[in-house]
Formats: sequence, structure tokens, C-alpha cells
Amino acid sequence: MKINILTLFPEMFSGFKSESIIGKALEKNLLEINIVNIRDFCYDKHKQADDMPFGGGAGMVIKPEPLFRALETVKGKVIYTTPQGVKFNQKLAIELAQEEEITIIAGHYEGIDERVVESKVDLEVSIGDFVLTGGELPAMMMADCIARLVPGVIKKESYENDSFFNGLLDYPHYTRPAEYEGMKVPEVLLSGHHKNIETWRLKESLKRTYLRRRDLLVGRELSKEEKKLLAE
Ligand code: ADE
Repeated sequence: MKINILTLFPEMFSGFKSESIIGKALEKNLLEINIVNIRDFCYDKHKQADDMPFGGGAGMVIKPEPLFRALETVKGKVIYTTPQGVKFNQKLAIELAQEEEITIIAGHYEGIDERVVESKVDLEVSIGDFVLTGGELPAMMMADCIARLVPGVIKKESYENDSFFNGLLDYPHYTRPAEYEGMKVPEVLLSGHHKNIETWRLKESLKRTYLRRRDLLVGRELSKEEKKLLAE
């Protein structure tokens, strides 16, 4: 899969591309992340990428010409990061991970010229009801979430147990030592009894979801086993 990110601040992506799971996936060519500097498509002497808004007001707007030109160099769905967009979630990430190539435009300042949105953008996406200085972090966040769903990037079991994959929050995790200053790991996890461990984890997932995010359970059919566990 190829993820293009159009930005005025390409340097912000260097750590993202070199570290940890994403860094390894890029090294193994499981994934391509193509950072496109919008300024490279400004053909005037001063390479001016933004300008004052028509009608007045605070802040600057990213100019249409460099964006239209940059978009000519990429393929696939075009996503624009904006607080006005649909809320990003795991379901959308799973859908986007099926694509061969996608492009994320990271907005900045007051945003991009609306003519680009109207004629080139397939989906406007927000990462939550708050306002950031720019779309670079949202673009990174979405790319990270999508990238780990690309086959081979992480183990399938890892994302199948994720929060939200089965519509539930994740269960608690523990590692060695089995006891730290009197705090013990739940006995069942040390038992080696796979079925009991699985049941305990499902029960903890259900409990957490019920206590913390009851909204996730609305409209979600409970399985027979889940119903039994909730009744206990
Ligand atoms: N740009 C600024 N704030 C944003 C948000 N919450 N989501 C997506 N893009 C943004």
C-alpha cells in the first residue's frame, strides 16, 4: 500500500517514518509513505504556498494552484484533514487499509482553498472535536492506524485483539514479574489454560466496555458466550 501525504511541513514526518513498527514496515517495503512538499509545486519566485483569505479575517489559506498540481502526481482516494470532517475511527481505518493508494492532504493555518475540497477531495476527516495547529499530526495518526492493518506490518492476532476490532475495548495486559511489590498478576494468566484465559479476557473486555464506553454496546449484538459472561 502507498500513502501519500501532502504537507507544508515535511520535516515533521521524519521521526514517524524512521522509528519503530512503521520504520520497520517501510524498510521491509510492506508499505510506502510518500511525503510530498506542497511548496515544491509553487512556481513563483518566493514559493508562496499560502495567502490571505478573501473576505478578510485572521489566518492564511493554502493556495489552490500548488495543491492541484501536487494532486496530479498521486492516485487513489483523497482525504483532507479538518475539524469539519467525519470522525476518524477503526472502521474507517479498516476500509482505507484495503486501498492500494491513498492521499492525505494535511491542512494548515485556516485550511486549504475550498475549490480543491470541492473538486478533488473524496473525504474530509477529523480526528476529534478539538482544533490543532495543522493536519500533520492527524495525517500521521491516520497513516499509523492504517499502516498497522496492512498485511505483514504487525501480527494478525495483534490487531484482532485490539480495542474496537470486535467492537469492545481491550482487556488488561501484564508482563513479568508475576509479582511486583505485592501487586500480583491475575492467577488465570499464569495457568497456561488457554480456554480459561480467553474467557477471562473476553469478560474483562466486556466489563471495561460496559463501565467506560457503554455507547459501544448500543446496537451491538451480544454473542451467547458474551451474554452468559455478563450475567455472571
Ligand atoms: N486540523 C486541525 N484540527 C484537526 C482535527 N481535529 N482533525 C483533523 N484535522 C485537523
